[in-house]
Amino acid sequence: MSSKSGGTLIVLEGIDGSGKSTQAKLLYDWLIKEGYKAVLLREPTNGKYGRILREKLKSGKLPPDEAYRLFLLDRIEDVQTNIIPALKKGYVVVIDRYFISTIAYQGASGIPIDKIISDHKKYGVPIPDIVFVLDIPADEAINRLKRLKRNFDSFEKKDFLEKVRKIYLNVGRYIPTLVIIVDATRNVKEVHELIINHVSRFLSGEKEE
Ligand code: TYD
Repeated sequence: MSSKSGGTLIVLEGIDGSGKSTQAKLLYDWLIKEGYKAVLLREPTNGKYGRILREKLKSGKLPPDEAYRLFLLDRIEDVQTNIIPALKKGYVVVIDRYFISTIAYQGASGIPIDKIISDHKKYGVPIPDIVFVLDIPADEAINRLKRLKRNFDSFEKKDFLEKVRKIYLNVGRYIPTLVIIVDATRNVKEVHELIINHVSRFLSGEKEE
């Protein structure tokens, strides 16, 4: 990881079904409406490694080491191709999942968190300005996914997501950045308002400097 110059990097995180993709889009739309230069990204990306990852995740058989290797490759490509160039141009970059997902998910599947952090440092992955963790109990998130007819039904998955959630709730320990835990059981509008409240304060503070 490395500290960044110019631009603002805002990350939306949370377990599957927490609503972060919806909130990332709403935040991006709000930034544009307010006149900011903004870009909306997501990981896994639609690049070479991201596509391989999605295919392999669908098949359900992806060993933790291999998943970690692919998520890291996808991230390095995203950082070099999209994130750093946008930050250099002074954009507000909103990203739906970033290395915090790797800490939480690959950490929960047994990859040592110290290793995840030192690998990201080695590759100079920029540290975010704000990380929003959309927090929701795993069973509630799974119910939402079921309502959306997304494929999610095993109890094992619930246990895994609860493990991921625990790491998310403690992620401030591992990264030197502002982490805001948001109660994602609240409705879409309330969560959005809470997010833009923090973001507008952060952005106006920056402008005053
Ligand atoms: P997700 O955001 O759900 O993508 P999509 O909306 O396209 O399905 O991400 C897919 C899965 O990848 C999700 O279960 C979380 C997982 N993931 C990791 O395990 N590590 C990571 O570093 C990232 C970015 C995602």
